[in-house]
Amino acid sequence: IAKVANGIADDMLTTTFLAAKCKKLIAPAMNTAMYENPVTQENLEKCRRFGMEIIEPESGRLACGDTGKGKLASVEDLFDAVERACFTDDCLKGYHVLVTAGPTIEAMDPVRFLSNHSSGKMGFAIAKMAQRCGADVTLVAGPNHLKVPYGVTYVPVTSARSMMDAICAVSETQDIIIKAAAVADYRPKTVAKEKMKKGDGELVLELERNPDILAHLGAHKPAKQVLCGFAMETENVLFNARKKLNKKNLDMIVVNDLREEGAGFAVDSNRVTIIEQDKETALPLMSKEDVAYELCKIVAEKRKEKDA
Ligand code: PMT
Repeated sequence: IAKVANGIADDMLTTTFLAAKCKKLIAPAMNTAMYENPVTQENLEKCRRFGMEIIEPESGRLACGDTGKGKLASVEDLFDAVERACFTDDCLKGYHVLVTAGPTIEAMDPVRFLSNHSSGKMGFAIAKMAQRCGADVTLVAGPNHLKVPYGVTYVPVTSARSMMDAICAVSETQDIIIKAAAVADYRPKTVAKEKMKKGDGELVLELERNPDILAHLGAHKPAKQVLCGFAMETENVLFNARKKLNKKNLDMIVVNDLREEGAGFAVDSNRVTIIEQDKETALPLMSKEDVAYELCKIVAEKRKEKDA
């Protein structure tokens, strides 16, 4: 790092590095004190200024026996960063994009909750591809088992209300919001403090409405913001989705049909139609990442229309 920051090419590696014109990524791995040393930090800053990307090290137990920041980034993060560096479309460069993903969970008591089958895959794929297209991405997600895409700001939430709070804290500064999360429309009216005991008879659970986050965003949408909802339908798919588009004041809505093979919850593929006021784009069955990339291109175009 010190050598390439200062143009010293005295071995094969540094010679090749300085002579190459391609994008350059540096993944530091060293002792914490060495990493935090102002000389190292200044050299890293210098590398950034020269256009190199630094893949931040992780914290943990280091080879020297110390514990702290300095562990080489994970293989997944290195792979993500390299893939991103090779990606040439920067249609979302300069934009702040907020993506929501996954289910919400609504507590009944300390043990049980109501939720749905969303895995988060669709929203995570959108966050990953938006980041790859150059956006500054915030991902607000309900409980899931997925790896957070490299470079994305991650905000984990649980209930619909906590998702709403996390979104409202940043929504006004976002250029584009894409809501792929499956938010619970209802929550138990009361949350028992202790585990509910089973009785002999049936249990009737009283539910109350959760806030409709997307409708709230639509009602308070800044002029140039692009607001994209998702719709999960099982009948009259396009008609119902278009109703949501209008009712919630959206710029577009992505509809998927849960009854279709390979679409919707948990699978790695999806088949969607992206509905705008004046246009419908029906995409074939494809991977969620490919759907996400197509969507990124369409929201970028919409945003640029509003900017013009
Ligand atoms: O996560 P995966 O397993 O990959 O599955 C992906 C998916 C099927 C969850 C995703 O593709 C999808 O369809 N997400 C939207 C699911 C949904 O809640 O649809 P809806 O028709 O009930 O809601 C319409 C829109 O309003 C959605 O953008 C939703 O985020 C939003 N909403 C709904 C209720 C509520 N209280 N607040 C909301 O903001």
